[in-house]
Amino acid sequence: MSRGRIVIGNWKMNPGSSAEAVVLARSVAASPLATGVAVAVAPPALFLPAVAEALRASPVGVYAQDVHWEEQGAFTGQIAASMLAPVVLGVIVGHSEVRRDQGDDDERVAKKMVRALAHGLWTVVCVGETLDAYLAGRSASVVAAQTAVIGHAVAAAESVGARRDRIVFAYEPIWAIGTGRAATAAHATICADAIRAELQRSAGIDAEAIPVLYGGSVTAANASAFADARGIDGALVGGASLKAEFGAIVAAFSG
Ligand code: 13P
Repeated sequence: MSRGRIVIGNWKMNPGSSAEAVVLARSVAASPLATGVAVAVAPPALFLPAVAEALRASPVGVYAQDVHWEEQGAFTGQIAASMLAPVVLGVIVGHSEVRRDQGDDDERVAKKMVRALAHGLWTVVCVGETLDAYLAGRSASVVAAQTAVIGHAVAAAESVGARRDRIVFAYEPIWAIGTGRAATAAHATICADAIRAELQRSAGIDAEAIPVLYGGSVTAANASAFADARGIDGALVGGASLKAEFGAIVAAFSG
């Protein structure tokens, strides 16, 4: 089955100003856009309107880096899916840095996913194991356990039914993020298989239709290994998405 390919630049808490964000967005839009791969950037929330405006006439999509799970209300500092939906194409949920800094657990990540999908947003759900789990050979089981919670939420939430085709997974081993030590493509395939097997089991959906991205120290040098890996449909790129190198990563996933 052929799944769409997706490469997303997660800018995290970069760059330092809205003006710089617009320049960076324009540089992504100006690089030769590859065929057969959807390209998007995920700037900080404050820069979303300016970046979306800068990319309005381009095929480059805009994603938010996080979203709150409630519809609206007394949630200081948070942003609702209904507020994002007119501005962005999609949202990332469950990034390990958000799990670490905001205390998100799998249940909360699942609730965020359900809310985002209910608003028609493409939703990238991040899962990934710690270094300890990796060294103990427990990567696939940890990733499956995280995915099970998401899968049960997919099965339980009626609102998700119509929007299942907007679910994307990102396998991001925590030990590979920002370390310069990417997983091997073979390891990424094993974890992508674990994600799909668990989704099939817990959500009862055709998991072969769900794209799985790899994230963690993706560079121009290693992108083609992930592009060639069975079961991997794209990349979630951190540091390298702030550089011209991002264009080469996109090109590696191009058809
Ligand atoms: P790096 O590419 O900087 O390792 O970050 C990966 C990541 O966390 C993308 O969401």
